[in-house]
Amino acid sequence: AGPVPEDPAIVSFPVHRPRRLRRSPAVRRLVAQTRLHPADLVLPVFVREGIAEPVPISSMPGVVQHTLDSLVAEAERAVAAGLGGLMVFGVPEAKDGRGSGADDPGGILNVALTRLAEAVGDRIVVMADLCLDEFTDHGHCGVLDHSGAVDNDATLERYAAMALAQAAAGAEVLGLSGMMDGQVGHVRATLDAAGFTDTLILAYAAKYTSGLYGPFREAVKSSLVGDRATYQQDPTNATEAIREIELDVAEGADIIMVKPGQPHLDIIAAAAEISPVPVAAYQISGEYSQIVAAADNGWIDRERVATESLIHLRRAGAQIILSYFALELAERW
Ligand code: PBG
Repeated sequence: AGPVPEDPAIVSFPVHRPRRLRRSPAVRRLVAQTRLHPADLVLPVFVREGIAEPVPISSMPGVVQHTLDSLVAEAERAVAAGLGGLMVFGVPEAKDGRGSGADDPGGILNVALTRLAEAVGDRIVVMADLCLDEFTDHGHCGVLDHSGAVDNDATLERYAAMALAQAAAGAEVLGLSGMMDGQVGHVRATLDAAGFTDTLILAYAAKYTSGLYGPFREAVKSSLVGDRATYQQDPTNATEAIREIELDVAEGADIIMVKPGQPHLDIIAAAAEISPVPVAAYQISGEYSQIVAAADNGWIDRERVATESLIHLRRAGAQIILSYFALELAERW
């Protein structure tokens, strides 16, 4: 007889069998560490001025620019599906250098916010995109100085005016997405001074520049030439995301967000570690359209990959997820 091996794994079959925890759908469901719930999801929606019927966005199949009426109908669907919130973007008919439509109480976004607040505001959280890019004829997120560069501090005054208009219109959460320095602190102080102490700020704290915003540009009929690299973060950097998050929290952000989502799972995980306030992630237009395009070609399964993509964001640490898939998925759960 030869030597007796001492390691039981050599004499018998594996002692440790992790596959037991995967053996049936019921066991897998029992041990799942990450779950998606409609209440954690926020549906981004577009409302366009001057249209009689919803207009499809060709680069985002399945997503439309809404009329005021179709927006309210979509909001009722979102409520019925149990979604947590709506993030509303306005597409105005006229644009100018300072984005006048943004803080005009009669501007399309503010009118839409009032309609939604009245129709569904007690049953779902109505959020407003607070940024100038949909309203400026140059397409930048801020106003420009005489050299054509984005003027940070002059832009803060425009954001403050927008914040007052949106809060007055009935938005419960303001989504500050312009990546100007000091925007959270300036808007918070302005809101508080006007008595809007209960209006929440969702800060797009770590917002990276990306080619994946492409379809959104069609969605809002953006006039942008060039890019946003002087204000949105450089994807090569991780440390500055921490700095941006810490600044926004110190300035009074109630929720912070990382965006785009799936390309920046490491940043979401880091944010979840350090943030004392809830962390959100935004699965942006190009992330949506990549999945839809492949699914429309029959190469991947739409529902399966869409669900996976949200699970990844959740597992990385995002408590709240903005996604164009939110409603169609929640309606199936
Ligand atoms: C700014 C804003 C943008 C998005 C959300 N808020 C555009 C940008 O930063 O270029 C992008 C959302 C998406 O791509 O789905 N108003």
